[in-house]
Amino acid sequence: MLSLFAQNYGFLPTRGSVMLDFVFLAMFGVIVIMGVSIALVRFRRMYNLHKWVQIILGVVLLLAVIAFEVDMRFFTNWRELAEPSPYYASGTVDTSLYIHLAFAIPTPLLWIYVIVMAIGKFPSPVMPNSYSNTHKFWARLAAIGMTMTAVTGWVFYYLGFVAS
Ligand code: HEM
Repeated sequence: MLSLFAQNYGFLPTRGSVMLDFVFLAMFGVIVIMGVSIALVRFRRMYNLHKWVQIILGVVLLLAVIAFEVDMRFFTNWRELAEPSPYYASGTVDTSLYIHLAFAIPTPLLWIYVIVMAIGKFPSPVMPNSYSNTHKFWARLAAIGMTMTAVTGWVFYYLGFVAS
């Protein structure tokens, strides 16, 4: 089917579709912005900026995940694109996808939980309070989950759509 999401219409010189290329690149931006947001709260005490950066990042990520899922399920046959990879026949690409999914599925749920709880428990304007330690625990887990989602996603992208 010829559409924006059609196969082999990616913009990187790989076998990735538009969506695969886009998410591959966008995850670099997500990790950098999240890192800056955490540094702002940790070293500069810019609580409100941290709050809004995290909320916007969460919403953008949710929209990206939905677009990605729609593309993978209805428009792009990723297996066809990954087949020329030397790692495909042995099942390594599939294994890397399962490892990726082990992080990519729980992480958005954790993000929703962390954001909803933080909005509910911190005052407005945002200030540290008795909820701080609990937030730090779950939020660090959420940040680690996002980083692992990105790293394992990059590995999957390389094994499936770059290696030849
Ligand atoms: C998934 C989204 C979020 C992530 C990953 C995240 C991440 C973090 C991390 C890692 C820290 C600890 C920084 C340190 O080491 O000192 C932190 C602190 C903090 N965050 Fe978030 N955060 C998120 C959402 C929010 C939201 C929505 C709010 C406000 C409504 C918020 C308010 C705070 C506050 C007030 C602190 C400082 C706590 C203190 O030091 O007492 N965070 N966040």
